[in-house]
Amino acid sequence: MKGAVVYYSRYGNNEKTAKAVMQGLEESGQEVDLINAKDKKELAAGYEFLVVGSPTRAGRTSGPVKKFIKKNVGDDWKGKPFAAFGTCLNRACEKGEPTAAKDIHKELSQRGLHPVTEAFDNAVSGMKGPLAPDGEESAREFGRKVGESLAG
Ligand SMILES: Cc1cc2nc3c(=O)[nH]c(=O)nc-3n(C[C@H](O)[C@H](O)[C@H](O)COP(=O)(O)O)c2cc1C
Repeated sequence: MKGAVVYYSRYGNNEKTAKAVMQGLEESGQEVDLINAKDKKELAAGYEFLVVGSPTRAGRTSGPVKKFIKKNVGDDWKGKPFAAFGTCLNRACEKGEPTAAKDIHKELSQRGLHPVTEAFDNAVSGMKGPLAPDGEESAREFGRKVGESLAG
């Protein structure tokens, strides 16, 4: 299947996460375009799945990703598969506080898309990072899992 990984990143941690998720998707046989929400590109009509990620802002999705979803994810996306990921402060997300990944998961579900798995939170140790030492590998694993669910 062909789809897109859409992300935004201010300090680079969610970008690393997005690239690792993309790698995992490709390893499981999916074809993927990487789109930075800030570039304001449109989603091509032929995409069959969507994977969206954002850094957490006050427990919610960052502005560029929110805007991207509002502009690009309309009724034509209803019933299509999606997965959500994001970065969050370890002291917040490990306590189960609200995160961008969970917010995106809820938003896309409400728009009628079908989740292939739970939202994936990738923890950073401070505002600017870094990710945990196994953070990129965990993101790659998440991408592989999403890709396998899409295939099977
Ligand atoms: C204005 C602002 C608000 C934030 N609010 C939260 C928050 O509510 N919860 C949280 O876990 N992290 C919060 N963070 C920290 C972000 O999670 C962190 O900066 C981000 O995940 C790093 O990703 P990036 O390198 O891709 O920008 C906030 C950061 C900023 C700048």
